[in-house]
Amino acid sequence: MIALALKDNEIMNLSGKDLLTLADYSSGEIYGLLELAEQLKKESYSPLLIGKSLGMIFEKPSTRTRVSFEVAMTQLGGHALYLNPADLQLGRGETISDTAKVLSRYVDAIMIRTFEQEKVEQLAEGADVPVINGLTNDYHPCQVLADLLTIKEKFGTIAGKTLAYIGDCNNMTHSLMIGAAKVGMNVTIVSPQGCEPSQKIFGDAKQTAAGTGAAITLTNDPVEAVETADVIYTDVWTSMGDEETSERIEKLEPFQVNAKLWAHAKKSPIFMHCLPAHRGQEVSAEIIDGPNSVVFDQAENRLHAQKALLTALIG
Ligand code: CP
Ligand code: NVA
Repeated sequence: MIALALKDNEIMNLSGKDLLTLADYSSGEIYGLLELAEQLKKESYSPLLIGKSLGMIFEKPSTRTRVSFEVAMTQLGGHALYLNPADLQLGRGETISDTAKVLSRYVDAIMIRTFEQEKVEQLAEGADVPVINGLTNDYHPCQVLADLLTIKEKFGTIAGKTLAYIGDCNNMTHSLMIGAAKVGMNVTIVSPQGCEPSQKIFGDAKQTAAGTGAAITLTNDPVEAVETADVIYTDVWTSMGDEETSERIEKLEPFQVNAKLWAHAKKSPIFMHCLPAHRGQEVSAEIIDGPNSVVFDQAENRLHAQKALLTALIG
């Protein structure tokens, strides 16, 4: 049934492809993945990857990404291997390129969470199997697939909706801008000076958005942004690998998503956060634990979106 539904879906073209950033995927491919994720969500066991293996390298901690990828492979009839870099020869100086080539002889895809985007690119260059970016300093595409799925489920549509991203601009902000631009969703970024997104990624997302009728804008007024928002999104003020300083926290404090700010919302928006969250910093407990929060649906959708992705890349 799933195979039949896939016949006219653009994701048929994704076989063997990497996912390094959503910028490399078309709007049709992203929508196709969401459609497949919706189908796979209906039944937990869908043996589409029997005998297939996913190698997972984590150079930063993870709860959701690790568990959802591992469970995704199990529910698809395949297998996932957790590879701790400290236990790999990578930790003793074996090159990324050699590691990529060797792993490609065993596994059907490699997922990596690391620091520099260049490392994921190098791995992909050396590998003969698809490489999936499980988060770098610059991007977090798998999270955004799950987020788009969640928005589609909550509103029935994504195009034309408006997401206000408030706080520190990081890997999440970048991938959200790119993903939204591809599927025609507006994004308003609200951050203090010094916490803005990469100018290059912002410019590229704006350009993509022009083609899908969406608007990607930058402001420093949280009130103005929440007034028109369907989705209010925030993320940690200190990402993995960044240094938490008191100056940084002070600068970001006026950008906390709390009841006072929420009172300016006119559209009864949903609240989103990729998690892990720091209650009392980027979001107050009353908001993240309140009735408009969909953070655990997002976390669950990591599983469904990644099952779709894995099926499309190596099924
Ligand atoms: N959102 C997310 O990627 O969570 P983990 O860091 O727990 O994987
Ligand atoms: N911006 C966060 C996302 C965690 C999933 C970080 O990189 O730590």
